[in-house]
Amino acid sequence: MDLIAKELLDKIRKKTARVGIIGMGYVGLPLAVEFANAGFKVTGLDVDAERIRSLQSGHSHIPDVPSDRVKELLKDGRLNPTTDPAVLKTMDTITICVPTPLRKTKDPDLSYIMSSVEVICRSLRPGQLIILESTTYPGTTNEMVLPELEKAGLKVGKDFFLAFSPERVDPGNKKYTTRNTPKIVGGITPDCTQLACALYEQAIEKVIPVSSTKVAETVKLLENTFRSVNIGLVNEIALMSYKLGIDVWEVIDAAATKPFGFLPFYPGPGIGGHCIPIDPFYLSWKARQIGFEARFIDLAGQVNGRMPEYVVEKISEALNDQGKCLKGSRMLIVGVAYKKDINDVRESPALDIISLLIRRGVEISYHDPFVPVLEVGGVGQRSNDLDVETLSDQDCVVIVTNHSLLDYQRIVKSSKLIMDTRNALKGFDDAHIIRL
Ligand SMILES: NC(=O)c1ccc[n+]([C@@H]2O[C@H](COP(=O)([O-])OP(=O)(O)OC[C@H]3O[C@@H](n4cnc5c(N)ncnc54)[C@H](O)[C@@H]3O)[C@@H](O)[C@H]2O)c1
Repeated sequence: MDLIAKELLDKIRKKTARVGIIGMGYVGLPLAVEFANAGFKVTGLDVDAERIRSLQSGHSHIPDVPSDRVKELLKDGRLNPTTDPAVLKTMDTITICVPTPLRKTKDPDLSYIMSSVEVICRSLRPGQLIILESTTYPGTTNEMVLPELEKAGLKVGKDFFLAFSPERVDPGNKKYTTRNTPKIVGGITPDCTQLACALYEQAIEKVIPVSSTKVAETVKLLENTFRSVNIGLVNEIALMSYKLGIDVWEVIDAAATKPFGFLPFYPGPGIGGHCIPIDPFYLSWKARQIGFEARFIDLAGQVNGRMPEYVVEKISEALNDQGKCLKGSRMLIVGVAYKKDINDVRESPALDIISLLIRRGVEISYHDPFVPVLEVGGVGQRSNDLDVETLSDQDCVVIVTNHSLLDYQRIVKSSKLIMDTRNALKGFDDAHIIRL
């Protein structure tokens, strides 16, 4: 190891290294807090001035990060949220946690990563470690980020260091947090890997080095493709079971008693969030560049993407049985976040279901204890109370997200018709409940 690397390693081990994180979202903020908890001075950079102002006043917008903890770290000077990119010059390590969405064409959109890299380039100096955490296709770190960083003449592995380490945040998961979820690290050179591992080892319980940035990038995509394909499979089994008159939920619960060789996945109204609906397409896009067709990924995307329509068809059939139609009916959507007990509505299937129902003339309102305001049909709406009057006033109550704290007893007692897309009403046998 050269002197520059040794000095950085020493700073990391002594926790005197200045840690910078770009992107204070679902991934960046919990990571910043973990490094600060470990004793580092952490700077969190974001382009969203409102988000930074709110963090500076001690308010956390991420439910997994308590505001009280943010306040303590601010007071101790261990967390410094800022919009000023000039701070990057003084950082010893810089971790990029910015969004990686898809374009309308389902092609990867690396613009957030590349604009972060551009800002880093402005002040890149010897002795800095750059780590990309944003989910992306294999080859991004090596083929896109590295050439930009080396443009000014500094050499990777000698002057500065570069690694990829995928984030595995599972928002709302109380058991596995940033701290105790094992972290994969792959560097461009062995020193890059060693330095990035050393950094994460200060704050995260288990760090696993892999042989390259490409392997580290693909690990994340395999994990999320695995979920997408298995959810697609179980959604297809659900549609099939319905036609065959079989209760798919009972089948899954019974199959899950097998202690080996089976992992339960559950059907639902579709997939949401910033990972599962998006990441597999980063992999299939990359595969297409070399003429390889990733058939499982595309098929799972199609099956999962059709679930909101299927939900609407089932509601329509159930209303029809009552001599009603969709047009002019009133519906309350219960739960609009993409999964239970969180406030994130990105790519939520609830949004698709709502727009399909509105297009068919349904009057929509919603209830979600985690989402106080939502744009419904182009108009901002507030979350309704889940009281007896509201429930009994609906032609159908549609449970899209099974938040733990909802009063399901009241929903069952007070609603005329319920579409339960999550088996949230397991154990209730009433005739006015329809399931997937
Ligand atoms: N949310 C998750 O559960 C999750 C889990 C694992 C991995 N990831 C991946 O992590 C990455 C980040 O996701 P997220 O959910 O934290 O996103 P997010 O939208 O919650 O946060 C990203 C933040 O980056 C900021 N930002 C954008 N461009 C910037 C720039 N040029 N400079 C500074 N700040 C900038 C945004 O203002 C925002 O605050 C994505 O690649 C995502 O796929 C997300």
